[in-house]
Amino acid sequence: MSVQTLGQPTAPSRGSELHDDLGELVSRAVVWTAAITALGGLLFGYDTGVVSGALLFLHTSFGPISSFDKELVTGLLLVGAMVGAFGSGKLADLIGRRPVILFTAGVFVLGVLGAAFSPTFWFLVVMRFVIGVAVGSASMAVPLYISEVAPPRVRGALVSFNQLALTTGILASFLVDYSLSSSADWRLMFGLATIPAVLLFVGMLTQAESPVWLVTQGRISDARKVLARVRSKDHDVEGEIQDIRSVAERAATYRELLRPDVRKLVVLGVMLAVFQQITGINTVIYYAPTLLHQAGFGNAASLLANVGIGAVNVGMTVVAIWLIDKVGRRVLLLSGTVGMAIALFVVAGTFALGGNTLGHTASIVAVVSLVVYTGSFAIGLGPVFWLLISEIYPARIRGKSMSIASIANWGANFVVAVTFLTLLNAISNAGTFFLMGSLSLAAVAYFWRKVPETKGLTLEEIEREMT
Ligand code: BGC
Repeated sequence: MSVQTLGQPTAPSRGSELHDDLGELVSRAVVWTAAITALGGLLFGYDTGVVSGALLFLHTSFGPISSFDKELVTGLLLVGAMVGAFGSGKLADLIGRRPVILFTAGVFVLGVLGAAFSPTFWFLVVMRFVIGVAVGSASMAVPLYISEVAPPRVRGALVSFNQLALTTGILASFLVDYSLSSSADWRLMFGLATIPAVLLFVGMLTQAESPVWLVTQGRISDARKVLARVRSKDHDVEGEIQDIRSVAERAATYRELLRPDVRKLVVLGVMLAVFQQITGINTVIYYAPTLLHQAGFGNAASLLANVGIGAVNVGMTVVAIWLIDKVGRRVLLLSGTVGMAIALFVVAGTFALGGNTLGHTASIVAVVSLVVYTGSFAIGLGPVFWLLISEIYPARIRGKSMSIASIANWGANFVVAVTFLTLLNAISNAGTFFLMGSLSLAAVAYFWRKVPETKGLTLEEIEREMT
């Protein structure tokens, strides 16, 4: 497929009564839905971010903790996430999107409370796996659900609420780690996630099932009721039902994903997922303090710079939400990834010139570049990946295909996490950042050729164009 721009929305577009401005005519119910479900994103960000600080204090309860132990506590979440992303895709097609998110919230509560009260180190390891299952499940079920409930004109912004919540979760975890570090209270660091987990569960009880899923189950009158609730008053609900019916069929099996017309979409999702991770975002998000410390920054300065990076990640996600339904997905994705490549080459250059320990000016250049890199990710590949995988798949394969893309994302995240420090030793800081910069350029070339523009189209219009 070499589609770059899909056709314009067929007039009159079902979302055409909506103004571009999020606040205006979009039904409050749908914004509320996005906000509640995005708590899943908050938990995703918090639980992946909190561990870096908590690791420092585990020895106060469990005695000496080796590097391998630390990798277990960190990495098992990622393995659990692959399992969660796999299971929830199947389940979301089978029993619906809402029960999957409710179940996920339940697993979150169980996992974070278990982690906070862990009697032994091994119990904690198991609980990190359990939290991972919930994180992986939330990572795909939340964008899936929001994209199916959102009106087309603001779908990009509403689905990207999830990425905003995610980045806010990461930042919150850095701040919590920082403020609890004086009391070494690692249990509270983990345990605080109970609050959003309970809120997600309770909030989700008030939400309805996805109208698209209801139609695929033949539950037309239920779908009608949901649409009446989440669309503005003068919206043509019957028209939308007909539109969904015209494309929605029984959920496909995994085997059917191998059919050539569907396979190309599955490959696109997987490539986006892998590029999102191998261009290095989590090495920066999670190892920036270590890198900065090695480069000559003091402890406090490294942590502060890290909070700054986290804040830019949140801020630029807000900018992305504002722009994504106006300028489209491709512009943000391409310009953001070019920005990442440039910033990575500059970091590589500073390490190449200055060695692994940087002088004053070089340190500043490196930090500014890391900030530019993170901001560029936050405006492009960060939100756009999760959004696109919720948009490009036909309804009947959406759950399973999103699940495959999410598994690829978590798998690539895992591989990068376990190889990054080895890579630094093997090919030096300069070499590692140069490699990530080159991978970003490869990503730009791939996105340029393969990623379609989905702005403003209904999911059904996208489906007709893509298959
Ligand atoms: C990625 C995560 C990453 C986060 C950073 C997400 O889109 O999937 O792996 O940690 O962005 O903001």
